[in-house]
Amino acid sequence: MNACVRAIVKAAPSDVTIVGVRNGGLGLLRDQPGGDRSDPDYFDMGPADVANILHRSGTILRSARDIRFRQFVEEQLPTGAADDVPDVTRHDRLGKAVGELAVKSLDSNRIDGLVLIGGDTTCRAARYIYEASGAKIPILVVPATIDNDIAGTVQTIGFDSALAMAVLQVDSIRETAAAMDRLFLVEVMGREQGHLAVELSLATGAEAVLIPEQAYSEAYLKRLADRLAERIRWSGGSALVIVAEGARVASATTSASGVPSSAAHAFATYFEGRNDGPEVRVTILGHTLRGAPPTPFTRNLATRSGLFVLDELQRQIKNPSRHRPPTLVGMHHEGFLDEIPIEGDMVRRDTTRLLAVVREQIDVLSGEGVPRT
Ligand code: F6P
Repeated sequence: MNACVRAIVKAAPSDVTIVGVRNGGLGLLRDQPGGDRSDPDYFDMGPADVANILHRSGTILRSARDIRFRQFVEEQLPTGAADDVPDVTRHDRLGKAVGELAVKSLDSNRIDGLVLIGGDTTCRAARYIYEASGAKIPILVVPATIDNDIAGTVQTIGFDSALAMAVLQVDSIRETAAAMDRLFLVEVMGREQGHLAVELSLATGAEAVLIPEQAYSEAYLKRLADRLAERIRWSGGSALVIVAEGARVASATTSASGVPSSAAHAFATYFEGRNDGPEVRVTILGHTLRGAPPTPFTRNLATRSGLFVLDELQRQIKNPSRHRPPTLVGMHHEGFLDEIPIEGDMVRRDTTRLLAVVREQIDVLSGEGVPRT
């Protein structure tokens, strides 16, 4: 994300002011007209603000998709407006409130066009803000998430970096696993999508991968455990199973306390405690991946996306006949960037492709092929 911000700031012509907004959605909304501006979230950016950030992960602008953001929006709604209504209505009310607050803030800060960097929630916010502006403010979204789950782009900013970091960590786990004949379950993020887990499995030669797109029965897991135990017993060495955080056993996976256990821990119960089985260890890579140093690919994708949105936004601002609803900058398979309309929830769900990769590549490469349920 830093590379994207840097590109926009550095490439902006001298008659264009780039305004950075700190603290993500919260910063975008809370700077209301007449409010306290002693510590403003909106600030003019120049080259000095983006010096030496190309190699840094995360974002110097900071983010705030936490409870503070939601609380702030709910506080602005009329009393009770968000209570006792179906989820869809509630989300729509919150979305509209986000749009209206954002437009007031943007107007009072004299902003002509908006670049948002983020995932599917950001795409939704873009539409609410555009609607609240009376279809006036041009908005472009740069897709950024380690989940790689945004429709219309082959790759999101951050995915390649998270993958590279995960590969380093899994390679290191593989060394210790091999020295001790152990079975390792390694959990990676990805929300309800298995993109990160699948690519990681291929890159590390994992023996199996468990993803949200597939339902795993207990019988299937038992057969998988048998196969992995046998593999370790007869061929020596280790076995590695990559688990996507959203993967689930077909039956319940809540712990005794009622709090859902991590996916890897839930699956581990099917592999451990067997008489002749290997010792099982679980590692959760979690947030280490979100702070991964940006790879060259991620940096360049972010830089190019930044240049792309800067050009397009200027075109739309200068020529209102070019105004259109928010778009995202998508990368095609051929590598070039394009504007993709933001429609629906923008979550990419290529379950079929993911399962095909798992069956035809990972299973084949990892040995006899995993028995299917
Ligand atoms: O969407 C990106 C992501 O890293 C997911 O993979 C993960 O489930 C989630 O964010 C974690 O979010 P948080 O840091 O807010 O708990």
